[in-house]
Amino acid sequence: MPERRIGILGRNGSGKSTLARAMAGLIDTVEGKVTIGGDDIRKDRKTALRRVGILFQNPEHQIIFPTGLEEVRFGLLQMGHPKREATRLAEAALARFGRAHWAERSTAALSQGQKHLLCVISLLAMEPAVLILDEPFSGLDIPTERALRRVLEDYPGTLVQITHDPQVIAAYDRVLWIDEGRVRADGTPDAVIPDYLAEMTAEGADAFADL
Ligand SMILES: Nc1ncnc2c1ncn2[C@@H]1O[C@H](COP(=O)(O)OP(=O)(O)OP(=O)(O)O)[C@@H](O)[C@H]1O
Ligand SMILES: [Mg+2]
Repeated sequence: MPERRIGILGRNGSGKSTLARAMAGLIDTVEGKVTIGGDDIRKDRKTALRRVGILFQNPEHQIIFPTGLEEVRFGLLQMGHPKREATRLAEAALARFGRAHWAERSTAALSQGQKHLLCVISLLAMEPAVLILDEPFSGLDIPTERALRRVLEDYPGTLVQITHDPQVIAAYDRVLWIDEGRVRADGTPDAVIPDYLAEMTAEGADAFADL
């Protein structure tokens, strides 16, 4: 995908997170393959790890270290940065979000929204060429969401963002609408979002209609 900003829409259970995992090379695809810059990511996991970052929908699944610094530094060490450099980069990444004090903070003591932000900081610190974000604003308070939006706007790499809010991706280069595990529509926001909204708000689209 040559576009730098790609949005993914779809109902609950439509397969957005599953697609995100497949794009990050974390699960096998039955059909098709995932390539980054022409390389099959299943064939070269190490390169894939450097090039693709994924923010999971549930940050509880992502945090593994006891302190904020260790958590942010881990990915940088994995990428091959020497410890001192990795520490410096991790501290800078925390400071960029005004969270320098999280370096020594226990990750277990962070709230859900704070854990989510810590995961975002860890990923951004690694500067992957492709960053996949599965509902990155969920659970964030207004100032934190605004700060994150600004940072994402400046992100030099490719962003793939899953969201339930078409507004968020209205100015993106490309939008995919996922429905029942398949691509239902793929095009510019103007081509995809109106159809998506029309169907989501149509008579008969009531999510509780069976009750
Ligand atoms: N392409 C697919 N082929 C087969 N099964 C799929 C496919 N996509 C999704 N599924 C199944 O549907 C389930 C729900 O998918 P997923 O978690 O990706 O939905 P989602 O769109 O992220 O939903 P939510 O908006 O609630 O986060 C998955 O656990 C998986 O079993
Ligand atoms: Mg999901």
